[in-house]
Amino acid sequence: MKATHAVVVGTAVALLAGAFTLPTASAATGSGGPGPVKKGSSARTLGELGDRAGVRIGTAVDMSALAADAPYRAVAATEFSAVTPENVMKWEAVEPTRGTYDWAPADQLVDFARANGQQVRGHTLVWHSQLPSWLTEGDFSAAELRDILHRHITDEVGHFKGKIWQWDVVNEAFNDDGTMRDSIWLQKLGPGYIADAFRWAHQADPKAKLYINDYNVEGVNAKSTALLALVAELKKQHVPVDGVGVQGHLDVTYDAPHDIAANLQRFDDLGLETAITEADVRIPLPVDSTKTEAQAEAYSVLLQGCLLTEHCTDFTVWGFSDKYSWVPGVFKGEGSANLMDENLRTKAAYTALSQDLKLAAGRR
Ligand code: XIL
Repeated sequence: MKATHAVVVGTAVALLAGAFTLPTASAATGSGGPGPVKKGSSARTLGELGDRAGVRIGTAVDMSALAADAPYRAVAATEFSAVTPENVMKWEAVEPTRGTYDWAPADQLVDFARANGQQVRGHTLVWHSQLPSWLTEGDFSAAELRDILHRHITDEVGHFKGKIWQWDVVNEAFNDDGTMRDSIWLQKLGPGYIADAFRWAHQADPKAKLYINDYNVEGVNAKSTALLALVAELKKQHVPVDGVGVQGHLDVTYDAPHDIAANLQRFDDLGLETAITEADVRIPLPVDSTKTEAQAEAYSVLLQGCLLTEHCTDFTVWGFSDKYSWVPGVFKGEGSANLMDENLRTKAAYTALSQDLKLAAGRR
């Protein structure tokens, strides 16, 4: 459990904290207009509270919002100690035309993170979705596709070498029943594509922590158990996998995953890190106070699962403002999934996370 690990984590955090100074809320005010989250002198951002509790608190970042919206930028800079590019490191974004890379938006995020003392989660190298059409429509042989994947991983991880804390090397490789997803990768390369991807990523940046990431794996179920069996096998074969990312896309109408700590413990017992990588809790509209409270409870269940797991490294939300959430576009009739509303006013969920972190810091 976390407490037994406190000294080690505390040392690491202290060393990191010495290496940079997190910007204060007043710095945010200076750079980006009035900060929406008013802080008294003793108030702390989620990122600061996370430092004290031994976990990073991250957010996905929408690069268009970051460029156009100063209050959004101020919150992204101050409230979090890690960032994940919501889209700009995906294959269709970095290589829309075969052989022509566009790293500029992702480089901008890496620079933003460095300026604000934040770590970067690289997302994502091997996925069935958001692939460029030259790849999906290319009708490549297995050997060609394997070369293409090898080169993609080598080039992308190599480009960001030394700048990425954790890579989501493989994303969403399973179906909910625990079978492997019938993606272009499984179809053409067979299940060995996963071990290959981790080996190639490790060769390109031996210091980055390498994760496999998925959704609906918060609790103990067929999918998380299949994922557990896979990573156990990978470890046995000395494949360089470091961690398991649990996305954490929840819905207030489903039961919160109260067995998340028991689930994460199974991975911890294998010697793996864990992380909550894409937390949001969507609400069937309209919002009411019961749903808002259920949302706070669900966020809290996710965070507490992480706080109770010794090597759970970070809790990342999939955006913080409802203004830019992916939810309304994908889940019909649902929304309000983030910690802050369209005007960056904090919700009960924000307060719940803040309190959980304070309690966890007090226990250390
Ligand atoms: C989503 C983004 O939020 C959207 O902007 C994009 O249109 C589609 O992808 N699981 C993942 C993320 O791993 O990459 C997805 O992000 C959300 C689900």
